[in-house]
Amino acid sequence: MNTSPTPLPTVHDALARPLRDLRISVTGRSNFRCPYCMPRALFGPDHAFLPRAALLSFEEIFRLAQVFVHLGVNKLRLTGGEPLLRRDLERLVAQLATLTGVELAMTTNGVLLGRKAQALRAAGLTRLTVSLDALDDATFLRMNDAHTPVAEVLAGIEAAQRAGFTGLKINAVIQRGVNEHAVLDLARHFRGTGMTVRFIEYMDVGSSNGWRPADVFSAQDMLALLRQQWVLQPVTGNPHAVAQEYRYADGAGTVGLIAAVTQPFCQHCTRLRLSTDGQLFTCLFAGTGFDVKTLLRADLTDQALAEHLGLLWQQRQDQYSQLRFHAARAQPPKEMSYLGG
Ligand code: GTP
Ligand code: 5AD
Ligand code: SF4
Repeated sequence: MNTSPTPLPTVHDALARPLRDLRISVTGRSNFRCPYCMPRALFGPDHAFLPRAALLSFEEIFRLAQVFVHLGVNKLRLTGGEPLLRRDLERLVAQLATLTGVELAMTTNGVLLGRKAQALRAAGLTRLTVSLDALDDATFLRMNDAHTPVAEVLAGIEAAQRAGFTGLKINAVIQRGVNEHAVLDLARHFRGTGMTVRFIEYMDVGSSNGWRPADVFSAQDMLALLRQQWVLQPVTGNPHAVAQEYRYADGAGTVGLIAAVTQPFCQHCTRLRLSTDGQLFTCLFAGTGFDVKTLLRADLTDQALAEHLGLLWQQRQDQYSQLRFHAARAQPPKEMSYLGG
């Protein structure tokens, strides 16, 4: 921000939630075709992804991030699609890393980390989350639908560690009847490594995955499985965290559960999402976004931009997960690959 040196007071939404996290989707493309997120039938070779000119430039993303930091954001997360498919991403990371007091994280499927981890680390990325839904190829190949074996993701994780990333998080979406067995496999594999696996309840994001309530394998069931094997103690921590964290009593580290369906956490939701083409979404399940690209390309000062964005947050009332089973959706939701997870 060049027009207003003093930070603005933190903005709160209509439900008194502060704005803290900005999730930035840098591409809608992916090298996977996970059926729960980008089913190949809908995202096939003829799928029309956004043309390059429709995407926000790195300079536009950086300017927005600066304004949001000014409004109280202290965590930026790069997402996609698969973020590492965005060309020269390390250039954006280097720009964002100049923002002080901000945690800079990325969620990736890990495949390109072998090539990119070192450059990302050097550019100033502080935290990495790698998605991995199973440890056996039979299941994982079905879940990524891109012929990528587990070994490629594990190699990416090792490359990240070699590059100096510590405390990696592993995200696993668990679907009933598809990969429940991955709960114990992944927990066993990552216990004692300093990495934390977070098991995520399968959500009704987008409208292409055919989600049914019966497909959800609940966090409670996951915890019961884990407790058959290990003694787990709840870790009390940040009330705004998405994951419930547990510590292995034998000292082998921590594991997390993201109960987005059965125990929604909307009352603590401090997240705003920026799509690749410059729309801001105040909820993962919002049907329409706020067109910030047009504002960025208009002749506004940073101060005026901040006022628009502050107002957007102040008017926010979203709590979709809290209402999921009680209210009809006003509009069809956007796909996760477009919005960022
Ligand atoms: P850290 O705690 O910093 O690792 O961030 P995080 O938990 O937000 O990380 P991550 O992006 O890995 O989020 C984990 C998963 O939780 C996401 O991929 C989603 O599946 C789910 N999730 C994250 N934010 C939200 C949210 O606002 N609403 C809902 N319903 N689910 C979310
Ligand atoms: N439900 C829960 N999590 C999902 N993700 C993608 N789609 C879903 C869904 N329907 C996860 C990805 C990744 C993160 C960005 O979101 O596996 O870890
Ligand atoms: Fe936040 Fe919407 Fe998720 Fe609730 S459903 S936690 S409001 S993003």
